[in-house]
Amino acid sequence: MQIITTKAELERSVQACKMKGQTVGLVPTMGALHEGHASLVRRCVSENDVTVVSVFVNPTQFNNKEDLLKYPRSLERDAELLESIGAHFVFAPEPEEMYNAEEMNKPFQFDFNGLDQVMEGKMRPGHFNGVVQVVSRLFYLVKPDRAYFGEKDFQQLAIIHFMVERSALAGTFGNLQIIGCPIVRELSGLALSSRNERLSAGEKQTALNISKTLFASLNWAKQPNASVHDVQQRVIDDINAVPGLEVEYYEIVDQATLLPTDTFRNAIGCVTVYCGPVRLIDNIKYD
Ligand code: PAF
Repeated sequence: MQIITTKAELERSVQACKMKGQTVGLVPTMGALHEGHASLVRRCVSENDVTVVSVFVNPTQFNNKEDLLKYPRSLERDAELLESIGAHFVFAPEPEEMYNAEEMNKPFQFDFNGLDQVMEGKMRPGHFNGVVQVVSRLFYLVKPDRAYFGEKDFQQLAIIHFMVERSALAGTFGNLQIIGCPIVRELSGLALSSRNERLSAGEKQTALNISKTLFASLNWAKQPNASVHDVQQRVIDDINAVPGLEVEYYEIVDQATLLPTDTFRNAIGCVTVYCGPVRLIDNIKYD
């Protein structure tokens, strides 16, 4: 496995593989890797000749400086894990390698047809512009056949699908396939997240109530005459009733449009909860 820190070397190395007719898969990450990332990388390794994993804490997608500073970084440990599961290239650039000063400071603007105006996008203005800024740059550099993203960030996945479909009209990313992979959970149900590293043992115990409530809501939704509004409110009330947890939003939306829905058909519930100072997200599909 090779660790690459410059765009030029990344392009050269991937190009050499493509010249041999090899297929290339990309797994974009911000590092602090856990079993959820590992599942994406394993799938990528099994479906492509060459696997590139980017490890880059992208400053342009953080609208909170403190969150950026506190984001866990562990490149050495990440590289060991990636090597053990068969990745071929790790791309770990410095921010200055990815962006010039103007790109770093001037918000990137992209039209997501409203997909970024709800939930995470509403709470973190500019976040998805930053995500797409870095992801599209990675796509241009690697030109992968397939790219893998976790469904825990469901809105991010929907926006990346939209961006690629829209660009496909212009042929920008060729036949790039975006592959969404299921959430990986601890046995307790807690969704794996790099942010879990910032939870104390007690907070981690408290955080279990998030997935527990989401799973319980699947049964509430199956009751005769269950309404989306009532299930949504009960999830919010039950999580807020746990000392140490505070819901920022819980919205049951259509999986395609991300707009509020009044039916459970094709619906997903997306939640963001503060567990002490740590902001956690999770989701559950009702259909
Ligand atoms: O999901 C993430 O970790 C990040 O948003 C991504 C896709 C790697 C872009 O920085």
